[in-house]
Amino acid sequence: MTENLLTVKDLEVHFPYKESYFSLKKKYVYAVDGVSFVLKKGQTLGVVGESGCGKTTLGLAIINLLAPTAGSIFYKDIDITNIYHYPLKERMEFQKKIQIIFQDPYSSLNPKMTLNRIIGDPLKIHGIHKKEREDRIADVLKRVDLTPEHGHRFPHQFSGGQRQRIGIARSLALQPNIIIGDEPVSALDVSIQAQVINLLIRLQKEFNLSYIFIAHDLAVIEHISDRIAVMYLGKIVELANAKDIYQNPKHPYTLALLSAIPIPNPKKKAKRIILEGDVPGPRNPPSGCSFHPRCPSRFSGCDEVSPTLQEIDKEHFTACHLYG
Ligand SMILES: Nc1ncnc2c1ncn2[C@@H]1O[C@H](COP(=O)(O)OP(=O)(O)OP(=O)(O)O)[C@@H](O)[C@H]1O
Ligand code: SF4
Ligand SMILES: [Mg+2]
Repeated sequence: MTENLLTVKDLEVHFPYKESYFSLKKKYVYAVDGVSFVLKKGQTLGVVGESGCGKTTLGLAIINLLAPTAGSIFYKDIDITNIYHYPLKERMEFQKKIQIIFQDPYSSLNPKMTLNRIIGDPLKIHGIHKKEREDRIADVLKRVDLTPEHGHRFPHQFSGGQRQRIGIARSLALQPNIIIGDEPVSALDVSIQAQVINLLIRLQKEFNLSYIFIAHDLAVIEHISDRIAVMYLGKIVELANAKDIYQNPKHPYTLALLSAIPIPNPKKKAKRIILEGDVPGPRNPPSGCSFHPRCPSRFSGCDEVSPTLQEIDKEHFTACHLYG
């Protein structure tokens, strides 16, 4: 049986804010609001949802850059919900194991540093000696189809796709088990997106990596995902094997996201589901099912009772009153 590498349980990240300078009462942005999933070794969990649904917040909480309000995160059987409880040496070991690649390959690389420093400095912080650092930098550059000579160049001397490959090389250098890609291809041209995704798939096989791959549309993650979590306003509304999400979707929101994927056949006409209204903010989520103001299938009661994520088929979970 495939090992559970990461287990996220009932995770909440709520940001406090005040309505005005004078208000005494604190209110909350429910950015991540009760998220649970398991990431297995060597597999990819695609996380998809519209802007503001909490994808980045979820990724940042997993790498401990944001403190969860509630819930837990386990790496294998080690509780890493707050790694700052551990002594520095242990904490650094966990930090090596989970790396992140950011969306913007332009701003995520320091323009004043050569690649040798961009990739080498984190290794130095983790106490890796000069000779091994040099070997690892040369190796990861080759793995992402660059050369060790590129190590002397600066980020501005590369194209967008190459810069994203530099970001991938930097994350690989620490030999992680899990890489979180926060929309790693969204800023790239479509043809380059496919190249970077294929590279990630190849590296996954070479290093038996597990990925959490964040995207805002279902087209991007189809080929890389084993399982997919569809998020809406801080919650997972559908979680299933990738094949089931595309062939047998259940939640009305997933259906709407799928209908937005263009079909490359001019004879076939896809019926696009246009969602009514604007995306409500996580500051004031709607009552009951938070999707109800935009849901084409809503019925009485949907605005009163919040549906919970339930297994409705084997390994297929959804949060919708249409399914019991
Ligand atoms: N530090 C913060 N303080 C207060 N609110 C925040 C903070 N970080 C994020 N938020 C809010 O939490 C919600 C979720 O934000 P998040 O960046 O996780 O969304 P996202 O799904 O990654 O969106 P996008 O697709 O645009 O990147 C948003 O409403 C955002 O404004
Ligand atoms: S619970 Fe109701 S409003 Fe929510 S997705 Fe299901 S049918 Fe639509
Ligand atoms: Mg984001």
